[in-house]
Amino acid sequence: MKLTAFSTFWFWLALFLAGFLGVCITDSFVGSQKNHTLIFTKESNIRNCSCLADIRDCDYSLANLLCNCRTVLPSTMEKTDYSSDLTIWFTDTSVLEMLLNFTMVWDLKLSFCGTTPLPTEYLTIWGLRKLRVKNKVKGRFPEQSVTIYSSSKSENEDLLTVRNKDRQMLVYISFLDTSLFNGYSLLKSYSVENVSSITEHFHNLLYSSVFSTSDNKSYVVTFIY
Ligand SMILES: *[C@@H]1O[C@H](CO)[C@@H](O)[C@H](O)[C@H]1NC(C)=O
Ligand SMILES: *[C@@H]1O[C@H](CO)[C@@H](O)[C@H](O)[C@H]1NC(C)=O
Ligand SMILES: *[C@@H]1O[C@H](CO)[C@@H](O)[C@H](O)[C@H]1NC(C)=O
Ligand SMILES: *[C@@H]1O[C@H](CO)[C@@H](O)[C@H](O)[C@H]1NC(C)=O
Ligand SMILES: *[C@@H]1O[C@H](CO)[C@@H](O)[C@H](O)[C@H]1NC(C)=O
Repeated sequence: MKLTAFSTFWFWLALFLAGFLGVCITDSFVGSQKNHTLIFTKESNIRNCSCLADIRDCDYSLANLLCNCRTVLPSTMEKTDYSSDLTIWFTDTSVLEMLLNFTMVWDLKLSFCGTTPLPTEYLTIWGLRKLRVKNKVKGRFPEQSVTIYSSSKSENEDLLTVRNKDRQMLVYISFLDTSLFNGYSLLKSYSVENVSSITEHFHNLLYSSVFSTSDNKSYVVTFIY
């Protein structure tokens, strides 16, 4: 009888400790979750949100409700580099151009929320590692993704360059065809490595003059279409 009471005590103590540890683990798990940036346009408004939860694509009111959002005026908007996840919901290419053309984004998720087909234009993105795209096809949003490279380098290194095993400086640049959001075909990507000069190798890119050629960097050029 005495023994039973004793083991009952340990049983409850063990249960209590397990519950306590469980709470701690859950807490630290939630605590380690980071807000991600979601930018979307609604009419002529641009909203920049910080969200903890994953919001269903193109659900503007839910985003306004659950995220911490503020309005960004196009006139005051500056191009920013994004070293953490960035999600953009868009309806036309002009906003994408404003937000992304010639910026650096590591992990990008683009959801096309419009209905008017997009023209073929090229967005130039530096350093892109992973792209996820979603477009509305028959009311659904199938997700497709492409991983260009993965890097384990520390945050305080130069955001743009990665060194390969020969200690060569690699610069990743991606050209994204905006018509891919029309959903006519599967997402594809094609990379050309070891490009010493973009101007020389891709002189058909009308605006290749923006790339400098006088350094020792090696470019990895990726076309996403
Ligand atoms: C959106 O907000 C983030 C901070 O949450 C900031 O780093 C970024 O520059 C903002 N982007 C724009 C386009 O305002
Ligand atoms: C993270 O997002 C929540 C809402 O989802 C917001 O209340 C909180 O202020 C955000 N934290 C930061 C640091 O932006
Ligand atoms: C990005 O900028 C280049 C050069 O100014 C331009 O030719 C191109 O159309 C822009 N891309 C988009 C999607 O607007
Ligand atoms: C890259 O190009 C240089 C010079 O053109 C060449 O020596 C080197 O072998 C190339 N590397 C690879 C991985 O193709
Ligand atoms: C380019 O590489 C050469 C030989 O490795 C070196 O002498 C030169 O200083 C480098 N130039 C720059 C701009 O890093």
